[in-house]
Amino acid sequence: MRTVADESALLEKGRGRAQKNALARLAASTDPAADKVLLAQFQRFREGALPAALWLDLFEAAAKRDNPELKKALADREAELAKSKDPLMRFRECLEGGDGEAGKTLFHKSPEPGCIRCHSVDGKGGEIGPDLTWLRKSAERSNLLESVVMPSGTMSIGFQAALVQLKDGEEVSGVITHDNPSEFILTSVPDGKKRTIQTADVVKRTALPSPMPPHFGAALTKRELRDLIEFLASGE
Ligand code: HEC
Repeated sequence: MRTVADESALLEKGRGRAQKNALARLAASTDPAADKVLLAQFQRFREGALPAALWLDLFEAAAKRDNPELKKALADREAELAKSKDPLMRFRECLEGGDGEAGKTLFHKSPEPGCIRCHSVDGKGGEIGPDLTWLRKSAERSNLLESVVMPSGTMSIGFQAALVQLKDGEEVSGVITHDNPSEFILTSVPDGKKRTIQTADVVKRTALPSPMPPHFGAALTKRELRDLIEFLASGE
């Protein structure tokens, strides 16, 4: 049987997965000494000494305990976040340490969140939004996170949504790709159907907001977001 002291030692000396498991076991422990160990980890967090991959595990573990000091530590953090001007602050524990396999499953799941309907990864998926495979090599995790929780803040070049009025009176909307002086492709957001439109037939093009759903920051749990970021950033 592992004791709280063993878990504490694992947290000091162990590696990623073992540390996460130790935090999960402390969260469920019947020994009140578990609270002390979790408080010590909170102290490490405050000092900047707790690896970012463990932040969410610590917050989740603390929230499961019925301990006033841990509750205060969580409330203090909430109060600090409420003061912050950076809306990404409250998602910082989603940047590192996710489960890429779980993120992959979530990404492919439809209809909710339905990422795969609009995006492809490794050659499979929709074409309403950009292919996300290349982001693995090029994107910072914080930019990925921002794209998922605040999509209108970061419009990707080459995927402008627009309402297009044609000379024959028809109005069509969708995401514009392959835009060149003579023609462009308009991909309909509801069904992914593509249509090539001649620029000569267009009366007016009006930019529309990004069709990327804006609610993922609220609709997905922090754990789900962390898993998705891991999948997008590492591919597994
Ligand atoms: C209804 C279609 C749609 C759905 C569903 C959708 N996206 Fe998007 N997404 C877009 C479009 C269009 C863009 C490009 C315009 C923009 O940046 O807002 C985009 C942009 C992005 C970007 C930025 C890409 C870049 O090149 O910078 C990321 C990352 C992303 N989406 C991830 C996701 C994830 C993860 C999900 C599921 C949780 C998801 N999207 C669901 C349409 C969608």
